[in-house]
Amino acid sequence: MANPIAPRANALELKSLLGTELLKIQQIQMLISTAFSFRQRADGGKPIPPTLSGKSAILLFFEASTRTRSSFEMAVQRLGGNAIVLTQQGSSAEKGETLLDTARTIQAMNPDILVLRHPSAGSPYLLDRELKLPIINAGDGFHEHPTQALLDLMTIFEMRKKIEGTRVLIVGDIAHSRVARSNIYALKTMGAEVSVCGPPTLLPPKIEKMGVQVFQDLEKAVLNQDVIMMLRIQFERLNSGQSPSRGEYARFYGMNRKLLKLCKPNVLIMHPGPINRGVELATEVADGAQSVILNQVSNGVLLRMAALHLLLGGEPFSWSEEIK
Ligand code: CP
Repeated sequence: MANPIAPRANALELKSLLGTELLKIQQIQMLISTAFSFRQRADGGKPIPPTLSGKSAILLFFEASTRTRSSFEMAVQRLGGNAIVLTQQGSSAEKGETLLDTARTIQAMNPDILVLRHPSAGSPYLLDRELKLPIINAGDGFHEHPTQALLDLMTIFEMRKKIEGTRVLIVGDIAHSRVARSNIYALKTMGAEVSVCGPPTLLPPKIEKMGVQVFQDLEKAVLNQDVIMMLRIQFERLNSGQSPSRGEYARFYGMNRKLLKLCKPNVLIMHPGPINRGVELATEVADGAQSVILNQVSNGVLLRMAALHLLLGGEPFSWSEEIK
C-alpha cells in the first residue's frame, strides 16, 4: 500500500536536504536569512512559528554526536514539535536490521521528517529515493554534512557581513571530512575564495578540481586569510600510516598562538567540534578572542530550525540584510 505521506511543496523546492553540492544561491540565502530571522524574533520577544506543532521528527543517529543531535532536538522543540531519537545502540540495528528496513518501519508510523546521521556515505540518498518522508542529512560518512556548512556560512556572514570574496582556509584531514566537502561546495556557490591545507596523505587526489587552492605549508597558507576553519583530525577513521603522530600533527598542522600572529589581526578561527585540544587547536586559540566556535554552536540551532521549518512548508522569512 502506498504510504500516505507525500513530499510537500515548499519554498526551498526540495523534498530533502541531503547535501550542499546542488544547493543554489537562493536556497542557501533562504535558509540563512530564515535562521537569522528566528533569532531576531526571539530577541524581540516575537513568537516563533509553531511549524512543527502536532508533528514528529525522528532523529536516527547511528554515529556519535553532541552538537548536531542536541541542536536538532532543540530545534524541533522550539518549533513546537516532538523529537524522537533512535541510536544504533539499543535499536534493532543491533539485531541486524538493515537501515532501509529500519527507515521503512519508522515511515510506517507516519512521522513528518527523518534526520539521519550514519557512517555510510550515501545512506541519506538511499532513504530519500526509497521513502516518501523528507530526509535531512546530519552527516553521512566522509561525504556531506550540509547543516554544519550552512551554520558555518551563517557564522561567517554574522561576523563579516559578507561571504562573497571572503578568503577561507580549511585545515586538516580534508580527505575524511564531510564538513570540508559541504563547506567547499557552499562557500564556492556563494563566491568565497577557498583554500585547503593538510598532510598530503589527508588531501583527496585532484582536490584542485573543486576550485580550491592547495597549500602544504600552513605558515604560508594562513597569510591573508579572513577565516581559518580547523578540522578535527579523525583518528577513528584513519588507517595507520595515514597520519603523523598527534605531536607531529600539532607541530605542522595545528593552530597555536605563534601561528596566529602570522594571521590577519581580525581573522576568524572556526572549528566544527569536537576539538582535539593541543592537536589541531591549542587551547589558547580555541578559547581566544578570534575563536567563534561557540557562535557556530548557537547558530546551529537556528539554522536547523530554518531547515525543518522550510522543508515542512513554513514560509521563508526575510532578514534585514541581504546574504551574499
Ligand atoms: N560538528 C558536529 O557534527 O559535531 P557532533 O559530532 O558533536 O554532532
